[in-house]
Order: sequence, then C-alpha cells, then structure tokens
Amino acid sequence: MTTRKLRWGILGAARINQQLMPAIVAAKNGELVAIASRRPGAAAETLAQYAPQEKQVTIFDSPESLLKDDSIEAVYIPLANKDHAEWAIKAIEHGKHVLCEKPMALTVADIEAIEKAATQHNVTVMEGFMYRFHPQHARVKEIIDSGIIGNVRSVKSCFSYTMQPAREYRIDNTIENGSGAMWDIGCYAIHAARLPFYNDSPLAISAMAKHISTGADVSCNGIIDFGDGKYAHFDFSFEHARRAEYEIIGTKGGLKCHNVWAKQAETPIISWWTESGQQCQETLPLANHFLLEVEHFNQCIIDDVKPQLSFDDAKTNCQLIVSALESVQSGKAIKLN
Ligand SMILES: NC(=O)c1ccc[n+]([C@@H]2O[C@H](COP(=O)([O-])OP(=O)(O)OC[C@H]3O[C@@H](n4cnc5c(N)ncnc54)[C@H](OP(=O)(O)O)[C@@H]3O)[C@@H](O)[C@H]2O)c1
Repeated sequence: MTTRKLRWGILGAARINQQLMPAIVAAKNGELVAIASRRPGAAAETLAQYAPQEKQVTIFDSPESLLKDDSIEAVYIPLANKDHAEWAIKAIEHGKHVLCEKPMALTVADIEAIEKAATQHNVTVMEGFMYRFHPQHARVKEIIDSGIIGNVRSVKSCFSYTMQPAREYRIDNTIENGSGAMWDIGCYAIHAARLPFYNDSPLAISAMAKHISTGADVSCNGIIDFGDGKYAHFDFSFEHARRAEYEIIGTKGGLKCHNVWAKQAETPIISWWTESGQQCQETLPLANHFLLEVEHFNQCIIDDVKPQLSFDDAKTNCQLIVSALESVQSGKAIKLN
C-alpha cells in the first residue's frame, strides 16, 4: 500500500526552518517540493543548510511564484509575525492548505478573515503551536482527567531565557509590528496557561510589562481569570534564566510539566503529588514535536478531518494577547466578552 504524501512549499527563508524543514522532509506522509524567498540566494542557502540531501526541491524567487505552482498542496508560513495574515490569505486563495507559524495573526479580525477565506476555499489552516504535539501534554490531560489532583483551580506557566545578541532582531521593532516578547514567547505562555481550562472561557486578563527603547516588551507577568476562583498566571521574559514549565494546582494535589518546549533531545518530565501523600515523577520517551506537528497536519488533510488546533483556539489566544497588551498600557484589568 502506498502512503499518500502531501506536497509542501515553504514561503520564506526564515531561521525557524532549521526545525521545520527537516520535519517536513522526515514526515512519513509529506514531502518538501519547493521553497521561496524574496532575497536572492536565501532559499537555496536555507535548503543547503537544513536539508542538503533534498536535490529535487524547486527554488522560487518570490512567494507569489511558489503559490502559482498548482502541484503544491500545502504551505508553511515562517514569515515575520506581521506578514502572517496577508500571506495566509494569499496562499488560501491559491487553494493551499496552510500551516502558519505562531501567532497566526496580530488581530482577531485578521484570524477571522483567514478563517472565512479557508472556509470559502475549503482548505485546512492551523497555527503552529508545535509544543502541543508532544505526547507529554496528552499525559498531563490524562492525569487531570483521572481526577487524582482534583478540580483544577490554578495554573502558572513560565517561559524565559536570556536573549543572545544574534536574536535581537526579535525585539528591534514595535509591538504593533509583531515584535517583542509577547508575540514571540508570551503567546506560548498564555497558550500553555489555558491548557487545563479547556472547558472554560476566560473572563478577564491583567498584565504588566517592561519595554525597551524600540517599543518592544521584554518581560511580562499576568493573570487570566477563568471565573469561580480559577486563575492562570503567565510569566515570560528575555531577561530571565531559561525556564519552560507549567504547574497546575487542583483541589487535591498538583502537577508540574518541567520541560514544556521539550525538543527532541530534552527529557520530558512530569511530576505530580496529592495531599494524601502520593508523589510521582514520570519520565516520558523523547519525541520531536515539530515532526509530530507536521505529520498531524498532513494526516488531517489526507483524512479530511479538522486539526487539533482550531480557529477558535487561535482567536481566544489572540484575544488574550491583545487584551493583555491593552492591560499593560492602561494599568487596568480588561474584561473579555
Ligand atoms: N515554532 C517555533 O519553535 C518557533 C521558533 C522561532 C520562531 N517562530 C516563529 O517563526 C516565524 C519566523 O521566525 P524567525 O525568527 O525564524 O524569523 P526570521 O529568521 O526573521 O525570518 C522571517 C522572514 O524574514 C525574512 N528574513 C530572514 N532573514 C532575513 C534577513 N537576514 N534579512 C531580511 N529578511 C530576512 C525571510 O523571508 P524571505 O526569505 O522571503 O526574505 C523570513 O521568512 C515567526 O512567526 C516566529 O514567531 C516559531
């Protein structure tokens, strides 16, 4: 039996291709057939760097020309945050399925426009929160659903590292242009903080942040109110030591996911405890969440089913980000509808 392989194009020569390009190539149900860049030579250089064995990949000198190739079924959008909505819609209008890097867009209205276009053209679109495809988060859900830590009341999610000079291009512009810690890593911290509250809608959000002279934020702390005393705390920074973890407290115990953004070689560890005296530390098998993300996306299209990360999820995350930024500016908690 032959396995159907989705035919992929990559819409930019971004640094994140270091992770996604090998994943698209290695996926059992997909193949990389093209890459484009607006900068002469950059696409070929990226291909030579991250997938040198892929000699048949077509190089396009613009994203537009790649989109006109009817043999390409899906595109990966690794462009700068402010360009996601424009290129997602262009790709959809060319009938392409779209895996768009996080954040899908900088406004809820833009996500709604992407969703409308996707519905009209009958294509699949997913926001690239790759970490959610690591099996450790399914294990966390299993622990919560077992009832062993009781009803979830509080979450704290943290994402930080000290920014290296080579990465300062991520904070060299304004927040409105998609620069800064909130759009870059805050979107993960907020996404992960929502994880155990999958049955609840956020009611309000409050945040405070530090900004630098470019206008970008570099550190932020905030709280989301899920009602009935359920709160999610998030904390992210480009100025703190490395952390990528979340802690969930229930009425009978708690759990911690120690390495939320676990890459392929980093050991996934979950620990949990109960008031009745149980304590456990689970070490899970290594996994490549980029590969799992791409294979999931491919299979959804092949089987014509909805992807795990929905438009509603993307809109809720974007609404929380925009409202957190508003809270930082106004110094007030922002109520959500
Ligand atoms: N999932 C993850 O783990 C993860 C990690 C990091 C970033 N991201 C996301 O991925 C996206 C891309 O992030 P990135 O840091 O990889 O961005 P990046 O390297 O700055 O690339 C973004 C775009 O800018 C252009 N570009 C790249 N290098 C350039 C240069 N030296 N001069 C001028 N233009 C250049 C490229 O388009 P052209 O080739 O067309 O010029 C590229 O597609 C963002 O949305 C980010 O949030 C995700």
